[in-house]
Amino acid sequence: MSNTTSDNRIAIQTSNISRNFGDFIAVNGIDLSINKGELFALLGPNGAGKTTTIKMLCCLLRPTSGTATIMGHDTLKDPIAVKQIIDLSPQETAIAEHLNAWENLSLMGRIHGFGKDEVKKRSEELLEMMGLRSRAKEQVRKYSGGMKRRLSIAMALVSDPQVLFLDEPTLGLDPQSRRSTWEHITELKGKKTIVLTTHYLEEADSLADRIAIIDEGNIIALGTPGELKDSISDMQVMVVKAKSLTNDAIEGLRKIYPEIKEVDGGIEIKAKELNFNEIVDYLRSKEVVIESTSQKQVTLDDVFLHLTGKELRE
Ligand SMILES: Nc1ncnc2c1ncn2[C@@H]1O[C@H](COP(=O)(O)OP(=O)(O)O)[C@@H](O)[C@H]1O
Ligand SMILES: [Mg+2]
Repeated sequence: MSNTTSDNRIAIQTSNISRNFGDFIAVNGIDLSINKGELFALLGPNGAGKTTTIKMLCCLLRPTSGTATIMGHDTLKDPIAVKQIIDLSPQETAIAEHLNAWENLSLMGRIHGFGKDEVKKRSEELLEMMGLRSRAKEQVRKYSGGMKRRLSIAMALVSDPQVLFLDEPTLGLDPQSRRSTWEHITELKGKKTIVLTTHYLEEADSLADRIAIIDEGNIIALGTPGELKDSISDMQVMVVKAKSLTNDAIEGLRKIYPEIKEVDGGIEIKAKELNFNEIVDYLRSKEVVIESTSQKQVTLDDVFLHLTGKELRE
């Protein structure tokens, strides 16, 4: 009893999907429409509702209200059909630490009902694809965080899912391992529909075709990385590097320019119209010694700060 969506370019569609935990609203009526072959990022801070959303789409958690379809199959009416075409690399990876990568993949293949030869072939391909081949016979507990994450992605790919969910695929990794994982995810782009959650702006910016910014259970912005930045392209960002910046000086400036971010060695001030001279004069009047001033391109970080008044810190 699977529904077919009227638009067959759409892979995932949600309608007003919500989830409460007691009185607390974790996901507050989200409408998403994700295209086949798209890499879609759900970007938001800890506690925003990313994992809860993913779990509802993967039939692991019942929505309190609303509906979702994956490739036309309703997650509530037809979870078996949904589970056949999706796979998930969860935030808390589910790898058997005492087994090696090869054994983890084989186990997953057998669970999905593939024959021995098929499992061997798929495991070899995936080990190669995720850059794990040379260490495939070592126990996973000896792997670095990055290798475990890549194995977790490989395990989600064993079933050759049409839709792949990656919940925080680089959580806790150092920048270098994160970049290497991005390269492996990039190789999947266009081949599968991918929904990725992250709280790393740079990750969403460099990988995603489109980004939905989620905060406190609500989608507060949605678009390509370029569109999101364009939405505040009429904003200017001034960077002031200065010693002796006091809270008093910053708070005084905030009365005129509310969007001030403290950065290493100075501040960034964002507004539609910035009067550089006025800012310099004001800071001097507060006996701040200015080292330099410059102008900066807006980033997704600025988009987030502008929309929520909060910084999305790593
Ligand atoms: N099983 C649960 N019981 C109660 N609260 C939960 C449960 N799961 C998640 N939450 C709460 O819902 C909010 C969203 O959580 P989550 O979806 O995990 O956020 P994210 O993945 O964006 O960090 C958080 O405030 C979290 O504490
Ligand atoms: Mg999460």
